[in-house]
Amino acid sequence: MAWHRYLKQFHGEHAAITEQVLSRCADRDGGNPYDWLLEAVPPGARVLDLACGSAPLRHALHDRRYLGVDTSPAELAAAQRAGAAPLVRADASALPLAPGSVDVVICSMALMILTPLHRVLTEIARVLVPGGALVATVPDRRPLRPLDLAIAGGLLAALGGGLGYPNDRALRHLPDLLVQAGLRLDGDERRRYGYRLWSAADADRFALSLYLPGRPPSSRRRGRGYLRALSRLNAEAPVPIRRIVAHRTG
Ligand SMILES: C[S@@+](CC[C@H](N)C(=O)[O-])C[C@H]1O[C@@H](n2cnc3c(N)ncnc32)[C@H](O)[C@@H]1O
Repeated sequence: MAWHRYLKQFHGEHAAITEQVLSRCADRDGGNPYDWLLEAVPPGARVLDLACGSAPLRHALHDRRYLGVDTSPAELAAAQRAGAAPLVRADASALPLAPGSVDVVICSMALMILTPLHRVLTEIARVLVPGGALVATVPDRRPLRPLDLAIAGGLLAALGGGLGYPNDRALRHLPDLLVQAGLRLDGDERRRYGYRLWSAADADRFALSLYLPGRPPSSRRRGRGYLRALSRLNAEAPVPIRRIVAHRTG
């Protein structure tokens, strides 16, 4: 419950912060995590963007029937300002959609916080057509380069502890959870992204994007100070990401 309250307040105050950070992350070829998610989106007319936030994926899907769903009014307002439509305010665990009504569910950087995860996955399977696809990204701990370990370790020390999400443990057993929901895991990959810290603004944006429930404000301030120091060295913060592709079996 504490996470629910935290997420409501966080996204109320910092709408679109995820998009602002992820759209500035790059892999070896210069692509960002949204590009990587979209690469795995199969053809299909109807796409549900679950926990869409400010709807950064909307424009790339202009030729599909699109529906964005999120619980945050502030995020949905940001999505609307960016031209996304239609949008619905709803919880991922109780989707206002008919069974078998979408071909693809995309979910960028949210499965780690959508609870209870088994109910969310069951809802995803319910609204997908048989054979329909779930394509999702979540933050991960690897891959990291040797220098990344030092940078991430320094950041965690500055913040006063590790970053954790409510579904961390569940995501370690994802294949079983998917099967229980009527989905089959068909792709599970990890990729390293880097977020360039080239200015104090870059540092502040990254610090603001971190979920820090239960931490005092001094935690984020210390993290921001550390990131600002890195920005004077033109450093890069590592952002390892896991991409999951699953299909509805029934
Ligand atoms: C890290 S942001 C990701 C936003 C967007 N998908 C992106 O990648 O930029 C997580 C999003 O999940 C939404 N969210 C959190 N709990 C939710 C729930 N139970 N149902 C639907 N959306 C939820 C938040 O409001 C927020 O917009």
